[in-house]
Amino acid sequence: MSKIIAVHSYKGGTGKTSMAVNIAATLAKNGKKVCLFDLDFRAPSLFAILKAQNVETWFNDYLNNSCEIDKAIVDMSPRIPGSGKFYACLANPSTEAIRDMSSKDRKWEMRALGRILALRESLLRDQKFDYLVFDTSPGLQYSSINAIVAADFVVVATTGDRSDVDGTKRMLAELYNLFEKKTGLVLNKVLDPSLSSRKTEMQTKIKADYKVPMLGMVPCFCEVLRAEGNFIFAQDKPDHPFTKIVAEMVKKIETNDVN
Ligand SMILES: Nc1ncnc2c1ncn2[C@@H]1O[C@H](COP(=O)(O)OP(=O)(O)OP(=O)(O)O)[C@@H](O)[C@H]1O
Ligand SMILES: [Mg+2]
Repeated sequence: MSKIIAVHSYKGGTGKTSMAVNIAATLAKNGKKVCLFDLDFRAPSLFAILKAQNVETWFNDYLNNSCEIDKAIVDMSPRIPGSGKFYACLANPSTEAIRDMSSKDRKWEMRALGRILALRESLLRDQKFDYLVFDTSPGLQYSSINAIVAADFVVVATTGDRSDVDGTKRMLAELYNLFEKKTGLVLNKVLDPSLSSRKTEMQTKIKADYKVPMLGMVPCFCEVLRAEGNFIFAQDKPDHPFTKIVAEMVKKIETNDVN
């Protein structure tokens, strides 16, 4: 079963953070105990999106070996009311922390991978979390590779952009296959207005083209863009088609029905 989900992409701006937040929130709404992690140390954004306050200890501190994971996770369950639990483990958005994280060497990154892998015991086994969701930096940043290595399932977000398509294909063929990761492709920001009627046909074509299972296709929604990260759609806009599409994708991950 996929317990650790990483959301990744070749290029920036493909919708990783939007997907990660809404996948995690949907799992929490489904009654699961979830922790959403910001591994985008280059441009931390969950801190702002979740409107976290008074955070004193960050995921950076855990990876730097200066605290245990309990100190770095924040209970944000009131944001997603219900029977589930919603925690976040945030990347430090200060300029100093961003500079510090970008200067880490290979040895540090390997130790960080050890700390990330240890979350399986500390959070999944001991603290009975059901899912950990990793938001990552685009491309082949060390922190993203670490997230992929630690994950059971990688959600790969892509747009139809020519520059994105080729890079994503290369990454799928080389990187995820290398680590033998279960992968699901999300084609995001689809502009084709006939998407709903041609969905099956398009999915089959894309699956053959990218040679990976499709997790879903998401139209470009002005409301998502306009929300400017102010809403968690899965919670705040339960009837919006974006929310429903994410719910379908989550169901596939939960039931291991990605093909
Ligand atoms: N389906 C969609 N329709 C319209 N806008 C979208 C959609 N998905 C994401 N967006 C918007 O695209 C922008 C980039 O999304 P997001 O920040 O989630 O991407 P990202 O991959 O995390 O970017 P980065 O690589 O910089 O971290 C945001 O303004 C977001 O609201
Ligand atoms: Mg992002």
